[in-house]
Amino acid sequence: MSGPLDGRHLVLGVTGSIAAYKAAELTSRLVQAGAIVDVAMTAHAAEFITPLTFRALTGRAPYLDMFRDGAEGEVHVELARRADLMLIAPATASSMARLAHGLADDMVSLTALATQAPLLVAPAMDSQMWEHPATQANRALLEQRGVQFVGPAAGRLASGRRGAGRLVEPETIVDFVKARLGRERGDLAGRRIVVTAGGTREAVDPVRYLSNRSSGKQGYALAEAARDRGAQVTLVSTAALPAPGGVTVVAVESAAEMLAAVREAVRGADVLIMAAAVADYRPAEPAEQKIKRADMGSELSVPLVENPDISKEVDGPFVKVVFAAETQDLITNATKKLVAKGAKLIVANDVSATDAGFASDDNRVTILDAEGGREDLPLLPKYEVSGRILDRVAALLR
Ligand code: PMT
Repeated sequence: MSGPLDGRHLVLGVTGSIAAYKAAELTSRLVQAGAIVDVAMTAHAAEFITPLTFRALTGRAPYLDMFRDGAEGEVHVELARRADLMLIAPATASSMARLAHGLADDMVSLTALATQAPLLVAPAMDSQMWEHPATQANRALLEQRGVQFVGPAAGRLASGRRGAGRLVEPETIVDFVKARLGRERGDLAGRRIVVTAGGTREAVDPVRYLSNRSSGKQGYALAEAARDRGAQVTLVSTAALPAPGGVTVVAVESAAEMLAAVREAVRGADVLIMAAAVADYRPAEPAEQKIKRADMGSELSVPLVENPDISKEVDGPFVKVVFAAETQDLITNATKKLVAKGAKLIVANDVSATDAGFASDDNRVTILDAEGGREDLPLLPKYEVSGRILDRVAALLR
């Protein structure tokens, strides 16, 4: 299956936590993203989930016991050698202790000790165990050695208590795997990229606002695609979409708030991509209290004043990419905006289309560059559109 993890060799270590059942979904998502996944399990893990499950999901026999008859000799070394990344999810408190102290008495700790690949650990345990000084000391020791922790999340635990100790969702773990592998070999590794997403909300009164149909999907897809190529991404967003793992999200509402957030975020950035639908106007005087229909009679007029043009006002030594949302004369209008906003690239999309633009999973765009170049893309998923935009950005950065 092709995807952002195409051909990457991953080793997934599964240890004996009740959360081991989530490792099945995690494995499935990794395989769907294109990865080749070898699973190493501890005997305790096999109490919670069968090796057969992983064999079915990966098409490869999981590794449970290095003394297993028929196993190639130094199987853990072979696993460790070919791994691009190792991930232990769920990681129990005792597996963390074994890792911290270099014990190697099961396939997971053995492989972890033998690999040079980046190691991600996603803990799962009761909150008191997570907070115990011994566990925290093991975590600190492992982090000092470059191990990256993903979670744990706070929430309801198997014991019925609430607290920090839950395995983070498989989707989030996959995001962190993509981000880490991107940083290892992505063509945007080391780059800082700021992306804006969603439609701004301009207050009419404490209850009502003016906005538009932007869902934020295009901006989020750009943030994820940039992360997957190793960039450090800040997403300035009005949208309520789930935050992509490994991406810093700055929540804003109005154009004024977005301007302030973008000014802050672009300091030291290499790229700014303005995918947000920023309102050009806002109510001149938002009412302090909810406007009462009884007071206003049959007509309510709301005078509007101009908002700052963020893509114009924010400038700097970064590659600026803007969008053009048009319903007519797409190329003419986009070309004018490209020049007016001093951008290197403009991504033009016809938002009157029903199968593209606002809220859809796909988009149909034309990329214009400051040198007069034009690239017409067919209807593609917004993640693919993002990849094509980032290809152009990467070329500009070289
Ligand atoms: O969010 P989705 O539902 O996925 O939909 C995606 C999208 C259609 C919103 C996206 O592809 C898109 O076209 N985003 C830009 C929408 C927009 O505001 O375009 P515009 O032509 O009105 O503005 C041109 C550019 O100037 C944009 O980069 C915009 O961010 C920027 N701008 C606009 C107004 C303003 N006051 N400040 C700005 O910076």
